[in-house]
Formats: sequence, C-alpha cells, structure tokens
Amino acid sequence: MPQTHHSAPNPTQKIPGIAHIIAVGSGKGGVGKTTVAANLALGLVALGHRVGLMDADVYGPNIPLMMGINDRPHTVAERIQPIEQYNLKLMSMGFISPGDKPLVWRGPMLHGVIQQFLRQVEWGELDYLVIDLPPGTGDVQLTLMQTAPISGAVIVTTPSDLSLEDARKAVNMFRQVNVPLLGLVENMSYLVVPGTDQRIDVFGTGGGKRTAAAMSVPYLGEVPLDPEIRKGGDSGRPVGIYGDGDPRAIPFMQIARIAVERMEQMGEPKSPSFSVGE
Ligand SMILES: Nc1ncnc2c1ncn2[C@@H]1O[C@H](COP(=O)(O)OP(=O)(O)OP(=O)(O)O)[C@@H](O)[C@H]1O
Ligand SMILES: [Mg+2]
Repeated sequence: MPQTHHSAPNPTQKIPGIAHIIAVGSGKGGVGKTTVAANLALGLVALGHRVGLMDADVYGPNIPLMMGINDRPHTVAERIQPIEQYNLKLMSMGFISPGDKPLVWRGPMLHGVIQQFLRQVEWGELDYLVIDLPPGTGDVQLTLMQTAPISGAVIVTTPSDLSLEDARKAVNMFRQVNVPLLGLVENMSYLVVPGTDQRIDVFGTGGGKRTAAAMSVPYLGEVPLDPEIRKGGDSGRPVGIYGDGDPRAIPFMQIARIAVERMEQMGEPKSPSFSVGE
C-alpha cells in the first residue's frame, strides 16, 4: 500500500500567486542589503509590477523602520494579511509584538517562521516577492532555499576588500544550490562632495565590477554613498518611492530594470539541489 507521509514542500513548487522570488543577500553585514531590497522593490513597483517585500532578517528586522510602519498585521481565517505601504505588500518579524517572538532562534523555529511568511501570508497575486536576508550564509538562507524556488539572487557588497571577500562566499553559496544569480550591486561606491562634482572613493574603486567579472556574475551597477539615501531609509520614505522622478532613485531603477530583464531571459527557475551540508 502506498504510504502517506508528511513531506517538506518541494522547493521547485511555486508559492501560489507568486511569479518570481528575488532574494537580496550579502556576505558581510551592514553593506546595504535592506536599503537595496527596499528600493529595488519600490523600483519594481514604479515599473508597474505587483510587488511584495518579505523581511527574512528575523534577528534584526529593519523593514518596518525603513518603510515607516507602526501597525501590526491582522489575521483573517488563519491567513496573515500583509501590511501595505507605497503599493508594496510587506511582512516582517518587526511587525510581531515583542512578547510573541523568541529571543533565541533555533533552527526548527527559523524554518517555521520562514515557511509561515511564505505560505501563510496573504500575498495575493505578485509578479515579484523581494526577500531581504540577514547577512552571511547561515540558517535563514539555507532554510529559504530549501523552502521556496528562488528565481534569482542579488548580492550586495561595498567596494572594500573585506566585503568583497564575503560577497564571494555568498555567490558561492547560491551557486552551490543552483540559485541563479541576478547580479552583484556595489553599494556605497563613492561619495560626491556636496556642491561639487568631486568624487571620493571611500572604500576603493571598481572592486564590485572586478569581483563580478572574476566570478562571471552580472554587474548590476553601483549606488553612491549618499546621506539622502540613509535619511530616506531612517525616516520611512526610501528614495525608491519617487522612481525615475528622483536622481537618487536612478541606480535602484537601473537594478530593477536589469533584474526584470534577466528574469525574463532566464525563464523558469532551476530546481535547487542540496549537496551542501547542514
Ligand atoms: N548608498 C547608501 N548611502 C548612504 N547610506 C546608506 C547607503 N546604503 C545603506 N546606507 C545606510 O547604511 C546603514 C546600513 O544599511 P542597511 O541596513 O541597508 O544594511 P544591511 O546590509 O541590510 O545591514 P544588516 O546586515 O544589519 O541587515 C543604514 O543606516 C542605511 O541607511
Ligand atoms: Mg538588513
């Protein structure tokens, strides 16, 4: 007799209603993943797509602050209703009240919450679900790749050697599990001295492009170090909400356009293989 057993969802199985999942990761922390994820998601909205943004950084969720949200999501018939802001559907651990979440995340709990965010949130019909990852190549990344078919990964780095070294690890991790790489973004590339055209390469120059070329990963472009980008993020009004109408959003619009183009070229995501150890 055939045995019925409870198996983990097949990662090749799409999340109903979600056409493409884009994961935004990095090796190093603090390089601007959340900034890129939020503004990329807003760029996709500006291009006319239906977009969700899932904050998978359960340790330090920053999406609520970056999007200016103080609300809590409510549940209808056991489905979590995402919070809507700037035409984006949002879900974050930061929306859950402190008493309802653990201080320490064990593997199975992480797995549970990532599953819940993907499958129990009423995302509706989305062209793109952008996922903001915590830094590194740890449990959240692994559990996400085991849980959902990721159409493409965006790796964020700064031009510093330390960040680039860790970006290579992130690229290798996604490669190992056959997640297609949409490309590498060099964030905090340079600083323009206010009121002048003078450009200061704070963390060195060209490292992102060189690393992308050396690893055969597409280069998605650079985002300057700009106080307005930080202010936008800290005040809940990221520059991406202005789309092509704000010069500061242009690098993110470019990333969004290339990502869409690449995703269309790639077609369906390949099924991940899990040769990496736990
Ligand atoms: N291009 C930029 N110009 C100016 N400030 C920036 C830029 N990118 C990011 N920042 C600022 O740098 C800080 C870190 O950025 P962010 O939170 O996006 O990084 P992260 O990689 O998501 O960090 P973590 O690893 O902690 O999740 C934030 O205060 C953000 O506003
Ligand atoms: Mg972050």
